[in-house]
Amino acid sequence: MREIRRLPEMYLFAQKAKSHGKKIGLVPTMGALHEGHLSLVAEAKKRAEVVVVSIFINPIQFGPGEDFTHYPRGLKKDKKLLKNFEVDVLFLPEASAMFPKGFKTYVEVEGLSKKMCGRSRPAHFRGVATVVAKLLNTACPDLVFFGQKDYQQQVIIKQMIRDLDFPTEMVALPTVREFDGLAMSSRNAYLSPRERKSAVILYKALSLAKKEVEKGEKDLKKIVFRMRSLIGTEPKARLDYLVAADPENLNEVSRLKGRILFALAAYVGKARLIDNMVISAD
Ligand code: PAJ
Repeated sequence: MREIRRLPEMYLFAQKAKSHGKKIGLVPTMGALHEGHLSLVAEAKKRAEVVVVSIFINPIQFGPGEDFTHYPRGLKKDKKLLKNFEVDVLFLPEASAMFPKGFKTYVEVEGLSKKMCGRSRPAHFRGVATVVAKLLNTACPDLVFFGQKDYQQQVIIKQMIRDLDFPTEMVALPTVREFDGLAMSSRNAYLSPRERKSAVILYKALSLAKKEVEKGEKDLKKIVFRMRSLIGTEPKARLDYLVAADPENLNEVSRLKGRILFALAAYVGKARLIDNMVISAD
């Protein structure tokens, strides 16, 4: 596995691979890798000839008072995991090269960035879109792999790829979960054993929605109310938002028809966790 830290080196490597007709797959991450990340790497290995995994804890997607300084870091373990997957390049750009002094250009995906997580994290998706645009420009992938765990992020990046004509195809892959259903996340490391047990309530609420739809419940408001009430029974969980939305444009819906995205964010202790499920109502 080759380690690349410098942006021009990454670009030249990509150009060379392309000139040999190789298909490049990029998996952008912030490290502290778990099986969710690794499912993206495994798919990238299947679909691309050269696999690049980036690890960059992107300062501009964290708001003031958020967990940038505490975000889990474990490069040694990450490297071991990636070597097992025979990843070709580990791209480790420096913050000073990504966002040098005087940096002024940001990518804003309008509308989508202000919904759901964007309400409590107003500059978050601007930071995500900007860094992903830079990673696409440097690693020049044919395919880029994202997880549906961060559903809104994946929709926003798809829109950005379309709007800004990146010659890259987005591949979105399903959420990998722990044995009890909790979505895998680097932020699960913040949970105490007691909070870890409580956190499963988020998955239980999404599963409840699925059961209700399958049972034939037609009233979306009732379903959302029952989900909220269930989360309310868990004293360690504090809901940030819970929405039922159109999975394509993230607009909130009030009728149960077609595919519905149930998405939520909640604080469990200090950790802000997100999860979602797309449920087919017909
Ligand atoms: P990070 O949280 O490290 O996630 C990297 C990728 O792994 C994202 O596409 C995310 O959706 C995916 N992922 C995380 N948990 C997953 C799970 N349980 N199942 C499946 N996929 C999962 O998302 C980011 O980093 C950053 O915002 C980034 C895109 C790298 C930009 O900085």
